[in-house]
Amino acid sequence: MKPILNPATSAFSTPLLLLCFFTLYLVTTISPFLLTISTTTSSSSPYHSLFLSLSSNTSASSHLRRLTSLPHIASSDADSLAASYVLSSFPFPSHTTSYSVLLSFPLLRSLSLSSPPFHFSLTEIPAPSDPYSSLASLAVPTFHAYAHSGSVTAPLTYAYYGRVEDFDELRSLGINVTGTVVLARYGKIFRGDIVKNSQDAGAAAVLVYSDYQDYAQGDVFPDGQWLPETGVQRGSTLRMQGDPSTPGWSCRVGEEECERVDKEEIVRQGFMPAVPSLPISGKDGEELHKAIGGQVAPDDWQGREGSPVYHLGPGPGVVNLTYLGNETLRKIQNVFAVIEGKEEPDRYVVLGNHRDAWTFGAVDPNSGTASLLELAERLFKLQKRGWRPRRTIILCNWDAEEYGLIGSTEWVEENREVLTSRAVTYLNVDSAVHGPGYRASATPQLDALLIEASKMVKDPDNPSQTIYDSWISSNDSVPVGRLGGGGSDHAPFLQHIGVPSVDMAFGTGYPVYHSIFDDYSWMQKFGDPMFQRHVAAASIWGLVALRLADDEILPFDYVSYASELKRGVKTIEEAAAGSPVSLSPLYKSIEEFNAAATKINDEKKVLGKKFWGIPLRKDQSKLRELNDRLIMAERAFIDGQGLSGREWHKHLIYGTSKYDDYGAKSYPSIDDAIIEAKKLNSTDAWRMVQHEIYRAARAVKQASLVLNGLTCNV
Ligand SMILES: *[C@@H]1O[C@H](CO)[C@@H](O)[C@H](O)[C@H]1NC(C)=O
Ligand SMILES: *[C@@H]1O[C@H](CO)[C@@H](O)[C@H](O)[C@H]1NC(C)=O
Ligand SMILES: *[C@@H]1O[C@H](CO)[C@@H](O)[C@H](O)[C@H]1NC(C)=O
Ligand SMILES: *[C@@H]1O[C@H](CO)[C@@H](O)[C@H](O)[C@H]1NC(C)=O
Ligand SMILES: *[C@@H]1O[C@H](CO)[C@@H](O)[C@H](O)[C@H]1NC(C)=O
Ligand SMILES: *[C@@H]1O[C@H](CO)[C@@H](O)[C@H](O)[C@H]1NC(C)=O
Repeated sequence: MKPILNPATSAFSTPLLLLCFFTLYLVTTISPFLLTISTTTSSSSPYHSLFLSLSSNTSASSHLRRLTSLPHIASSDADSLAASYVLSSFPFPSHTTSYSVLLSFPLLRSLSLSSPPFHFSLTEIPAPSDPYSSLASLAVPTFHAYAHSGSVTAPLTYAYYGRVEDFDELRSLGINVTGTVVLARYGKIFRGDIVKNSQDAGAAAVLVYSDYQDYAQGDVFPDGQWLPETGVQRGSTLRMQGDPSTPGWSCRVGEEECERVDKEEIVRQGFMPAVPSLPISGKDGEELHKAIGGQVAPDDWQGREGSPVYHLGPGPGVVNLTYLGNETLRKIQNVFAVIEGKEEPDRYVVLGNHRDAWTFGAVDPNSGTASLLELAERLFKLQKRGWRPRRTIILCNWDAEEYGLIGSTEWVEENREVLTSRAVTYLNVDSAVHGPGYRASATPQLDALLIEASKMVKDPDNPSQTIYDSWISSNDSVPVGRLGGGGSDHAPFLQHIGVPSVDMAFGTGYPVYHSIFDDYSWMQKFGDPMFQRHVAAASIWGLVALRLADDEILPFDYVSYASELKRGVKTIEEAAAGSPVSLSPLYKSIEEFNAAATKINDEKKVLGKKFWGIPLRKDQSKLRELNDRLIMAERAFIDGQGLSGREWHKHLIYGTSKYDDYGAKSYPSIDDAIIEAKKLNSTDAWRMVQHEIYRAARAVKQASLVLNGLTCNV
C-alpha cells in the first residue's frame, strides 16, 4: 500500500524560510515568461505505455538460448564470446571495459573416506535426456572459489547449516569440532560464512552439501525441477566485494602498475578462508552421514524421511579432503550501452545485470541478461519514434559477479567520485526468473515508484490482473524488501557509495542453483515455459528506469524512508531491551528527517503545479537543485569509517550481517555492537553501542540537512 503521508509539521516556520518559499513560488508559477507549456515528458509519457506494448517473449527466449549455449565462467573464452554477443546485441553505442583481477580455479580435488574405504568421484552426472548433457563436462569442476589449498585427514562432525548458533548448539551438547572436518548443509547463510564460522569454531576443513530435504523435495531434473542426487552447488567463499587483490581500488587491463595486496594478507584479514573446503552433492552428503556416529543430532537437524539418522560425531568416519587451487590474475570484461540524456546528460540512471555463470547460467544470471537485451530493444524502438530520455541511461553487463561482485565493484571503485555526484539510482536484476512471483527490494524512497510501476504491468501468470494485485494478495502490505544483504551487484552502489538502489526478480531461489542443471532446458520446462516472466521483468525494470530517466521531478519519497528508519529502531530497541543505552538521539533525528521529507514533498508539489491540468514550464535550476537534494540524501548515510570489521561497507542504515553476507540488517553497526555487548556484558561494550547509536543519528541528521537544502538556512 502507498505509504500514508504524515501530517505536515510546519516546515516553513521562520520568516526567512517563508520568504524563500514565496520566492520559489513566484519564480515557478507567476513569472510570465516561464508560463509556457512544458515540453518534457513526465510520468504520463505516452512513450512509457508504448514501451510496455513492445514486449517480445520470442526475443527474450532467443537471447537466453544464445547466451547459455556453453558454460561460461568469468574470464573464459566462452564468457568472452558471450560478452561479444551482448556488445553486438545492444542497439545503442556500446563498449567494453576490462580489469585485471584475481580469480580462482580448481587444479586438484579429492575426497575419500578411510573407513569404510570410499573414494568420491566429485562429478555431476546429467541425464542423457537433458539436451545439454554432452556439454556439461565443459563446466568448471565443482569447487569453492578462493578455497584454501591443502590436504586434511580428520574425523567428521556434523554442523547443520554452519551458522554461529549451530556451533553454539554443538558446544552446548559437548561436541568439540576442533581439528575435525565439518559437514554442513547449504541453504541458510552465505557459503563463505559457513566456511568462516567452521574455521572460527576450530574446524580443519569443511564440506558443504545440498541436503535432499532442502533441494530434492520432488521429482528431480529433467523430470522435475529439483536437484538431481549428483548435483552440486558451486560458489565463491570470498568474504569481501570486488577483486581481493585491489580492495577499494581497481586495475584496468593495460595499466602499467597497480598496487596489489598479496594472498597471505587477504587470508590473514579473514577475507579468504584459511582451511580447505569443497561443495558436494546430496548423495555424497548422505554417504558421509552414514560414517558419522556419536550423539544423535537434534530432531530439526535430521534429513528427510528415508535418509539415515544423522549423528554429530566426531568420527568414527575419517575423511581425506585434498584441494589445490590456482589463484591467478585474469581479464574480466564489463559491457556497457549508453543512451545519452537530452536535458541532463550528466545524471545517470544505471541498470545492471551480470553475465558470467558457474555453468550454463540459464537462471543465474542470463535470464536477467536476456531481459536486459529485450528491454534495450524496446528502448531502441522508442528512440526511433522520437523518444530521448531526459537523463542518461547506462545499461551494464557485469563480469565475475559470481566470484564476489567483482566487475561491478571494480567499476564503482574506479568511478567512485563521478558516480557519487551523478548516479540517480542503480536498478539491479541478477537472475530475472527463478519461477513465479514478483519480488523487489529497494531503498525506501523508491517504494512508491515500484508500487506505481507494478500497477502498470500485467502479472505474467495471470493476465487478468497486474503484478501489484498478485504482489499484495499474499500479504496485507506490499512486501518491498530491504537491501542490506550483499548477494548481488547492487551492493557496491548502495553499500559502498550510497546510490538509491533496487533489486528485483521473479521467484525466490531455485533448486538447481549453480549446478550443471541450470540450463536452457530447465528454464523452458520449469522456470518460464512461455518466457512471459522474462518480459514482465523487463517491463517493470524498464518502466521504473523510464520514470527515473524522464520524470522532471524525481519520483522519490523520503517520508516512506522515515517510517522505515523508525521501524528499524523498534527492532534495535527490542534487541537492546534492559540495557543502559538510549535510543532517543536516533528517534529525535528521525523526527527531523520526517519533517524534512514532508517539506521536500511539499516543495515537489509546488514545483509540479499544473495550470488547468497542464504542467508549467519549470525553472530548470530550481528543478535541478531539488532533484539533487533528492539524489544526495541517500549519500548522507555513507560514513567514511564504515562498519567495523568490514570497512568497505559504509552505509549505516542498510548493511550485511557480520555472520552472514546474505543477511540484511537495518543499522548494521548498532546491531553488531549489541551482539558484542551482549556477549561481553561490560560497561565499555554498552558504551560502544551508545556510540553507534549517536553515529547513526548523525548520519540521519546529515540526510535531513541535505533534504532541506542550505540555500535559505545557512
Ligand atoms: C577441543 O579440542 C582441542 C584439541 O583437540 C582442545 O585444545 C580444546 O581445549 C578442546 N576444547 C574444549 C572446549 O574442550
Ligand atoms: C589424501 O589424499 C591425497 C590426494 O589423493 C593424497 O595425496 C594424500 O596422500 C592423502 N593423505 C593421506 C593422509 O592419506
Ligand atoms: C594458473 O593459471 C594460470 C593462467 O591464469 C596459468 O598460466 C598457470 O599455469 C596456472 N598454474 C598452474 C599450476 O596450473
Ligand atoms: C508480508 O511481507 C512482510 C515484509 O516482507 C513479511 O515479513 C511477511 O512475512 C509477509 N507476510 C506474509 C503472510 O507473506
Ligand atoms: C510467447 O507467448 C505466447 C503466448 O503468450 C506463446 O504461445 C509462445 O509460445 C511464447 N513464445 C515462446 C518463445 O515461449
Ligand atoms: C550483566 O552485568 C550486570 C552487572 O554488571 C549483571 O547484573 C547482569 O546480570 C549481567 N547480565 C548477564 C546477562 O549476564
